[in-house]
Amino acid sequence: MQIGVPREIKNLEFRVGLSPSSVRALTEQGHQVMVETNAGVGAGFSNTDYHAAGAAIVTAAEAWQQAMVVKVKEPLPKEYDYLQTEKLLFTYLHLAASRELTEALMRSGVSAIAYETVEKNNRRPLLTPMSMIAGRLSVQFGARFLEKQQGGSGVLLGGIPGVSPGHVVVLGGGIVGTEATKMAVGLGARVTLVDINLDRLNQLEELFGARVQLLYSNSANIETAVSQADLLIGAVLVPGQRPPTLVPRSLVEKMPNGAVIIDVAVDQGGCIETIRPTSHSEPVYIEAGVLHYGVANMPGAVPRTATEALNNSTLPYVLKLANMGLKALDKDNALAEGLNVLNYQLMHPAVKATFPDLV
Ligand SMILES: NC(=O)c1ccc[n+]([C@@H]2O[C@H](COP(=O)([O-])OP(=O)(O)OC[C@H]3O[C@@H](n4cnc5c(N)ncnc54)[C@H](O)[C@@H]3O)[C@@H](O)[C@H]2O)c1
Repeated sequence: MQIGVPREIKNLEFRVGLSPSSVRALTEQGHQVMVETNAGVGAGFSNTDYHAAGAAIVTAAEAWQQAMVVKVKEPLPKEYDYLQTEKLLFTYLHLAASRELTEALMRSGVSAIAYETVEKNNRRPLLTPMSMIAGRLSVQFGARFLEKQQGGSGVLLGGIPGVSPGHVVVLGGGIVGTEATKMAVGLGARVTLVDINLDRLNQLEELFGARVQLLYSNSANIETAVSQADLLIGAVLVPGQRPPTLVPRSLVEKMPNGAVIIDVAVDQGGCIETIRPTSHSEPVYIEAGVLHYGVANMPGAVPRTATEALNNSTLPYVLKLANMGLKALDKDNALAEGLNVLNYQLMHPAVKATFPDLV
């Protein structure tokens, strides 16, 4: 199959759909890959790297002309014209968030498979690596914003012998929360994790033993923990819903001056009342004396790692699609769950439920 990899044009998006090693895996199986000039530069992959992996370096229009297009982010309005011919599009789409894009895909005749709805055993394998990265970054960023010169309280999360470590409170012990906890424990911080799912708390005890205080999620426990937190990480998810507001403004006001909030769940609305979306260029603001970080695409800060992590998860599906085309969906239920648009029609139940008038 002929596969195109356009450069991402979304502001400050440096990831790329296929890494050179994925290109090599595809060309080794006889596929042809056309990569747009400089598509990988932001992630640290040069045109020469792609050429060495067997790709041809082409223009944006040529990359978009291929039978399958592999991307990272959803097509933007400037790219809608490229969607005119029948082709396979494999990327993050988040259609429920954009009626405009949903209609553009339906008009185009494209077969669109969304990374975020590929589902295996009730898990979303193409979202997991990004949640892992965001969880790990949350502690890295938190430690940085606690520095005095960044506006923080000047607490070193790990402390040193003779000085108490910082206190990290993690709300939600799923993928993001677990990775954040691993990093915080690794730094030597005191860590409290709160989750509403007792089975999950039991699993986390297996992982962290007595090293982490594991608390059931209720307002009393949250109030005690958060009012003493140097770093508060929001990592709650209720699938398909806006997360509950677990930390009201009145509790933020009780946090130490110069404490840091990283609400990773901000992409779904956030679980801390005072959070609002921020960007990589202006990541924090101060409210009630507390630094707030609300970047909704945290993995964009580490495009090299994020591209490789994403490719490790997407490549098996890209290979199946390249080898079998749409027939791959009949052989792979997880991939079939990813189908959002086919033959000018909406296919995914959740997107249909969001836009019933388009069905
Ligand atoms: N900002 C970013 O760049 C970025 C990147 C990746 C993921 N995310 C977001 O991070 C959030 C978490 O993702 P995840 O993959 O860890 O989800 P997950 O489903 O693995 O974990 C969510 C956890 O929240 C817990 N939870 C639900 N309700 C709760 C409550 N009332 N109190 C305490 N815990 C509760 C669940 O039991 C679960 O353990 C999601 O909103 C996701 O979209 C953001």
